[in-house]
Amino acid sequence: MFKSSLLRQVSRASTTAIRPPTSAFAAASPCSTTTPLRLFTTSPSQKDKKPLDPTEQLTTAGEPGASEHEGRFARTDESFTFEHPDEPNMPSSAPVQGRGGFHFRRTLATFTLEDKVGLVTGGARGLGLVMSQALHLSGADVAIVDLNKEEAQKQAQNLMDTFRAENPGADHVPQVTAHYCDVANPDSVTACINECIAAHGKLDHLVTSAGFTENFDAISYPYDRMQKLWGVNVDGTYLFATGVARHLLERKSPGSIVFIGSMSGAIVNVPQPQAPYNAAKAAVRHLGASLAVEWAHAGIRVNTISPGYMLTALTKKILDDNPELAHKWTSLIPVGKMGRPEDLMGAVTFLLSEASGYVTGAELRVDGGYTVT
Ligand SMILES: NC(=O)c1ccc[n+]([C@@H]2O[C@H](COP(=O)([O-])OP(=O)(O)OC[C@H]3O[C@@H](n4cnc5c(N)ncnc54)[C@H](O)[C@@H]3O)[C@@H](O)[C@H]2O)c1
Repeated sequence: MFKSSLLRQVSRASTTAIRPPTSAFAAASPCSTTTPLRLFTTSPSQKDKKPLDPTEQLTTAGEPGASEHEGRFARTDESFTFEHPDEPNMPSSAPVQGRGGFHFRRTLATFTLEDKVGLVTGGARGLGLVMSQALHLSGADVAIVDLNKEEAQKQAQNLMDTFRAENPGADHVPQVTAHYCDVANPDSVTACINECIAAHGKLDHLVTSAGFTENFDAISYPYDRMQKLWGVNVDGTYLFATGVARHLLERKSPGSIVFIGSMSGAIVNVPQPQAPYNAAKAAVRHLGASLAVEWAHAGIRVNTISPGYMLTALTKKILDDNPELAHKWTSLIPVGKMGRPEDLMGAVTFLLSEASGYVTGAELRVDGGYTVT
């Protein structure tokens, strides 16, 4: 399967092959003054070329859509719609088993998060839950923040139970607490940050994983749902970042913030149409870069992790309902498979810890190579 960028490259290569050499090359050529220019090319010379067969023209440089396959795999399909489920229909996630344990194998001490407190929005499920676990296994106390407080409480308990089971005899189990918040509501965010500080005494780290996607073609996207999507993904990220940074500035303490963006902030997914989500994630990435510059003087680092297609309970539900989508997605991923939530554990630990002390304003793509093709 070809992506549009590859087709563009092929088409560009075929035109540059018959382009005359640059003047710099011509001047450097030993025969440039005495011998008529002859192109260095393995393709037949222009005058020897027969006119192209019309079908050949269509497959390399035809009008978009002129042939059945032109651009077929690089288009959105407006028949694909997906509305984010209501809370009672959301599947639950499970903490990762068997990846914790004592640090028997040596690694850099700078990766530790011991004595730190991290707040994770959207931490009750999916990627947020597994990243909360990464912070916890790395020694941090964690405040799980979510719209669904009941699920957050259940998972906070799960994380501490899993830690105890995998670290028998541990004399200290880092604390995990659960807190309600609607990240799109400024009053709710302020109240939640104060509650987390009261519970843990301070905050050092923030991970913003609360977010969601929906699929409607742009023309028929319901406006209220678009506002909600931007409210959670963009406003929610902004409100938590500024709230936690205010606390760090007041404490005169350095800190590290990780935004969860998406590869959709850099590419356009196909075939499912999702223009507002793509724009929201592009906003998240550039917000991260902008705040990194604004707060660099205070030792507050801000970076963005942009995941590709990750197999969470929610994406699994979407794929179970649309099996052909799994084939389309994986056919566009160079490593040939979707990511697992635990593939983010190392990335988030690295970006929060001192191991990445000189990294700020960066975007770390965890997408199996999707965005480089
Ligand atoms: N799963 C993927 O393939 C994927 C890929 C790229 C980026 N992402 C991004 O990763 C983040 C997490 O996605 P996920 O797949 O884990 O989703 P998820 O639905 O499994 O988890 C999201 C969590 O956020 C919470 N949440 C939603 N709205 C909220 C609000 N207003 N206030 C507080 N909490 C709220 C939900 O209750 C849920 O617990 C999102 O920002 C998503 O856009 C996901």
